[in-house]
Amino acid sequence: MSKEYNIAVIPGDGTGPEVVAEGIKVLNSVAEKCDFKLNFTHYGLGGEHYKATGEILPEEVLEPLAASDAIYLGAIGHPDVKPGILEKGLLLKLRFDFDQYINLRPVKLYEGVMTPIKDKGPEDIDFVVVRENTEGLYVGAGGCLKRGTADEVAVQTSINTRKGVERCIRYAFEFCRNRNKQKKLTLCGKTNVLTFAFDLWERAFYEVAQEYPDIETDYAHVDAICMWMVKNPEWFDVIVTDNMFGDIITDLGAMIQGGMGIAAGANINPEGVSMFEPIGGSAPKYTGRQIINPIAAISATQLMLETMGELKAASLIEQGVIKVLRDDLKDVAAGKMGYTTQEVGDLVTDYIKTSIDL
Ligand code: IPM
Ligand code: MN
Repeated sequence: MSKEYNIAVIPGDGTGPEVVAEGIKVLNSVAEKCDFKLNFTHYGLGGEHYKATGEILPEEVLEPLAASDAIYLGAIGHPDVKPGILEKGLLLKLRFDFDQYINLRPVKLYEGVMTPIKDKGPEDIDFVVVRENTEGLYVGAGGCLKRGTADEVAVQTSINTRKGVERCIRYAFEFCRNRNKQKKLTLCGKTNVLTFAFDLWERAFYEVAQEYPDIETDYAHVDAICMWMVKNPEWFDVIVTDNMFGDIITDLGAMIQGGMGIAAGANINPEGVSMFEPIGGSAPKYTGRQIINPIAAISATQLMLETMGELKAASLIEQGVIKVLRDDLKDVAAGKMGYTTQEVGDLVTDYIKTSIDL
């Protein structure tokens, strides 16, 4: 009997539903080709649901989500909802509640895609950021005093636990070993200023490194990382960093790989349920116009299948993405692709259907 997976789908806000529809199309075609079955359950959460009901992530939804094999998320963010409410109540809550302690973000420039970095090509831009995803400044530790007065005080604390830091670093070493490219892991920190938090990170990093003599280790401050990502992106293989720095450097990473329309990420709990998403936002102004690029959402399905162990199917999706970016799309930007959102999904699907490469 063929394998069966239950996928929970949260299309979310804005263009989320449009790109997720293309990801599902691609997943179905690859499942047929590779002989496994996917069952999708949709959850209508997001800005519209919140506006209509006041509900963000009802407790009764957490149970079926936890029981699923993966969560597929479109985008969260609604122009009528104050920033922070949906992000914290839905996206961050899912990451934290399901202990998805790894945020894996590949930065890979595919052939045919324009990078703003002069004289750099696909052979230079191919690395992965392993971002800690459940601690740091994101835990919401802090508060304010005398808000709105001349004496106000705001405190926001970065929490770094030995356990949380070490499991993230260990994951990055393992990932770097299995990736088997430069076999180099760079710790991105700020040991010259954040002398408590990154002291812990640095000690854990070099202690765990003892177990991985085959992996070269390197360290750079986060500001220098930004500089090197532009000047010498070929130096990087795998970068491991905390939640906040990982958030920031992966937007830079998305730009050097061609833009938000093609950058995907995975929120991984290696022992539990993981969640996959295009890393761009909900792009409300493009909603319903079928001009947004679905490649990021499609590449997120590749990460999903890799995490579930369906490696052939994942590779087939990547081959399809490579082909479409190289041969078909005029540009990766919304409205400039030369195809509609649906047509881009069809192009990837057609490649998968006609592929004899199995
Ligand atoms: C991301 C996003 C989120 C983050 C926001 C929407 C809370 O920017 O996934 O990178 O900061 O993690
Ligand atoms: Mn971000």
